[in-house]
Amino acid sequence: MARILLGVSGGIAAYKAVELVRLATGAGHSVRVVQTEAAERFVGRATFEGITGAPVLVDEFEPDPVRGAYPGDPAPDHSPISHLELVRRADVYAIAPASANTLAKLAAGIADNLLTAAALASEAPLVIAPAMNDRMWSHPATRANVETLRARGATILPPGTGALASRGEWGAGRLAEPPEILAAIEEALRAGPFAPRSLDGLRLLVTAGGTREPIDPVRFVGNRSSGRMGFAVAEEAARRGAEVMVVAANVSLARAEGIRYVDVETAAELRDAVREAFPAVDAVVMAAAVADFRPAEPVAEKIEKAGREGLTVELEPTVDVIAELAAERSAGQLLVGFAAEHGDAAVDRARAKLERKGLDAVVVNDVSRADIGFDVPENEVTIITAAGEQQVPRASKEDVAAAILEAIERLRAEHVHAGGAGPA
Ligand code: CTP
Repeated sequence: MARILLGVSGGIAAYKAVELVRLATGAGHSVRVVQTEAAERFVGRATFEGITGAPVLVDEFEPDPVRGAYPGDPAPDHSPISHLELVRRADVYAIAPASANTLAKLAAGIADNLLTAAALASEAPLVIAPAMNDRMWSHPATRANVETLRARGATILPPGTGALASRGEWGAGRLAEPPEILAAIEEALRAGPFAPRSLDGLRLLVTAGGTREPIDPVRFVGNRSSGRMGFAVAEEAARRGAEVMVVAANVSLARAEGIRYVDVETAAELRDAVREAFPAVDAVVMAAAVADFRPAEPVAEKIEKAGREGLTVELEPTVDVIAELAAERSAGQLLVGFAAEHGDAAVDRARAKLERKGLDAVVVNDVSRADIGFDVPENEVTIITAAGEQQVPRASKEDVAAAILEAIERLRAEHVHAGGAGPA
């Protein structure tokens, strides 16, 4: 389900945020909590950590033990900047309770703690549930701040009227009830770019990594693929509700919960694993860099250097797995291939590949650039389908994965509209 970032600011209503987190995790969402220093005086981190199963952060400079990952995500293999990574991954940012002070900072764009810095860096839908004393709520400054935030597109859940925290006080200022806040969060998710469970019911097979073809027991012909792109597609698909299986060729990255992984080494093993799974899936994303050639006669014992002038290894072609699947698929099974191309004619060559191999989409990487593609966290691709081309500007592999899955969603929708007549 969704990744929710919850900002908790200072106020007695912070105890209700505990209930909100309990409801949200119970509904299947992964939640990370950031608190202000004042909030920590009302509810300790341990309470939120116990319920979310993830560390709580307060200070912008404290290291995040899980490096921005949400529960269920594998942690990245580098240390990103906390407030940027938490919001980059968030599908929605909810702030509950939002104190008068936090509202004022949000309206003014002040970023003097982790909660507000994260808000300034966030592009996710913002849901704000204020709570404060009724005179603070009705103060013209607060009214203006709320209007500013609303005009910018934030969802504001007005506080309820009733008994307030300080003894004998009554008025508008009580934090909205947790079920109401969760409903607003889910509504914001539906309206936002993240469509929860948009791949519900899709059985997806993803290949990732790079195959290794033995020359002898210790040497191989391999490539630089790390598996990051394929793993990002698999994790994003699982989050959108797909049932995901990954055939991983020599990938040393962390594994996500809820995804089935099958490890292989060679192109032949990858082919066997893919063919076995293929009849029971609806779509295949072939992100693995599969060797096109392998040593024709791998040697059973380690080749000794002594007494040799040189070494010639003869290579023979491997089976093109995705082309083979295309020839055998049943109606409606979608096939997405990758193409490692370079230079100006990259898109034309990839389009030719789409047609030659009989694929539904080809994702083109420009491998002549060192800053994107192989073994780095970012990518920039063009997605080619029969309908046209979509440029995905340089972005994290997670965002590129989202674009690839949106292309699959469109292809599925076209298939349904075409009356279910799948590609031949
Ligand atoms: N592929 C495959 N089986 C192979 C080789 C490649 O299924 N034996 C798949 C890859 O997983 C990828 C696509 O085919 O999805 C890449 O196509 P490929 O023909 O290998 O092209 P490139 O590697 O991009 O380059 P070239 O055109 O030079 O072969």
